[in-house]
Parts: sequence; structure tokens; C-alpha cells
Amino acid sequence: MSTPYAKPDLFDQIRPLVDQVRVFGEIDSTNDEARRTIMSGFTGSNLIIANTQSSGRGRRGRKWVSPAGGIYMSLTLPLHASLTQPQALSLVSAISVKQSLESWSQVPIKLKWPNDLLVEGKKLAGILLEFQTSEPMDHIVFGVGINYSLTNAQKERIDREVTDVKELTEKLPVREEIVLSICTNLIENSRRFFNEGFDPFERIWNASDYYLGSNIVIKSGTSEKSGKSLGVNGKADLIIESDHGQELISSGEIYFDLNEARRSFDGDT
Ligand code: BTN
Repeated sequence: MSTPYAKPDLFDQIRPLVDQVRVFGEIDSTNDEARRTIMSGFTGSNLIIANTQSSGRGRRGRKWVSPAGGIYMSLTLPLHASLTQPQALSLVSAISVKQSLESWSQVPIKLKWPNDLLVEGKKLAGILLEFQTSEPMDHIVFGVGINYSLTNAQKERIDREVTDVKELTEKLPVREEIVLSICTNLIENSRRFFNEGFDPFERIWNASDYYLGSNIVIKSGTSEKSGKSLGVNGKADLIIESDHGQELISSGEIYFDLNEARRSFDGDT
């Protein structure tokens, strides 16, 4: 049977890492398939990969444009203990994807709190972290979308400035290599996070924080806060220096200024 993947045998190297690996040509959303699998009673770890998604989802109810030939994957891990810092795991997932992509990138990849990957301000990848309650155990779903090799027409369909893996490197790795590396890093870093908390990741995050030292606006629902970004603390909160002193932010979306924040909110679906 023909496959859109150049080296599908590489997926076999992921099999020892996770209990189940499934590769789809097209699916609605790999995160939705992950939820269905968990709800059907599957209790192991599970990786779902698709060549294209018809209803890809982003954070805050946004759509994730998913043309054929991109990287769309969801890794689910059973939660053996309760998760006390879900927000921090979101940052750990972004660090994991960055570490993978940096093995091929010739330019630095930056992080946008809580879990976007940017290159020169343009979006390279996004992560949708979801939790699925189920009996006998709950699961985490790491949904990762990476712009891999977009045409100019595809870039224009996306409502923000984007870049792709092809632009970062002279020798484009096959998608299978990237997926393998991301799974390895997500599993290793999650294990470390569950044992040691966010502390070991604080410095790693701040070394690559795109907004560190910049004046920013954070919007969360109807609340708007502004100040200078001081990076994250050991609990993965964002610290800003505002007129009221230092404030800790635990949720929201970062913008450089109010105009950008309001434009973006107006465009939300
Ligand atoms: C964001 O930046 O808003 C998060 C985007 C996450 C997209 C990925 S693609 C694979 C997985 N399936 C989905 O429907 N969404 C995530």
C-alpha cells in the first residue's frame, strides 16, 4: 500500500516507547482520536499521527490549518498520580518539541508562554495539551502541530505570520525522524517533571523566552494586564513587573501591545 511517508519503517522505532502507534492518512483531529481511544477503555500510552486533519484544533477554540504533508501528532500518557501543575506541563511540552527541532535547525527557536514555538516571531509549532478523565485512570494528551514544508499559498491561508521546518535547515529531515525525536523528549521530560517538578525546566525556559525583558500585554478572558516580562518562576507562572510591582500570571495569551491583543481577540472564532 502506498504511504505519504518517505521512511515509514522509522515509526517502528517508536513502538518500544509507546504501547500503541497508529498512522492515519486523514483524520478529523489526532487529539479527538486520542480522546476516543481513551474513552473506549484503552489504558496504555498511545501515539496517533496523521498526514492531514480535516478539523484540526488549536488553543482557545481556534482552528489549526492542517494541509497534507504536515506534522500532526497526539501522544497520550496515562496519569498514574494526580497532576498538581497542569500549566507547568504545558511549558515542558514546548521545551521538548523545541529540543527536538533544534537538532536540525540552524537558527535559534524561541518559546512563547505557555507553549508556542517561534522563529523570529513567526509561528513554527503549537501544542494543545488536554486532559481526559476516564476509568480506571485519567490521561494527558499532548497534541503537537508543526509547520513542516508549507507552500506560499498555504502560508497565506493562516491568519498569522508562520515559518516551517524547511526554512530552518539545509537538509530537511523526514517527518518520521522528527516524530520519533519528539516522542522520546516528551516521554523523558514528562517523567522528569513528575519526579522533580518544574524547577529543572525554569532556566531552560527563560534562556529561550521570546518576550523576556519586553513590555507585554496579557489577556485572559476580559482581564488585561501589562508590564515588563521577567520570564517564568519555578511554578511556570509568568512574572511581570507592572505599576503595581511584580505580578504572577497563570493563564492568558501574550501580545506586544494592546492593539495586537484587541485585533487578535476580535478575530477569534
Ligand atoms: C495552538 O497553537 O493553538 C495549538 C495547535 C495544536 C495543533 C495540533 S495538530 C495535532 C493535534 N490535533 C489537533 O486537532 N490539534 C493538535
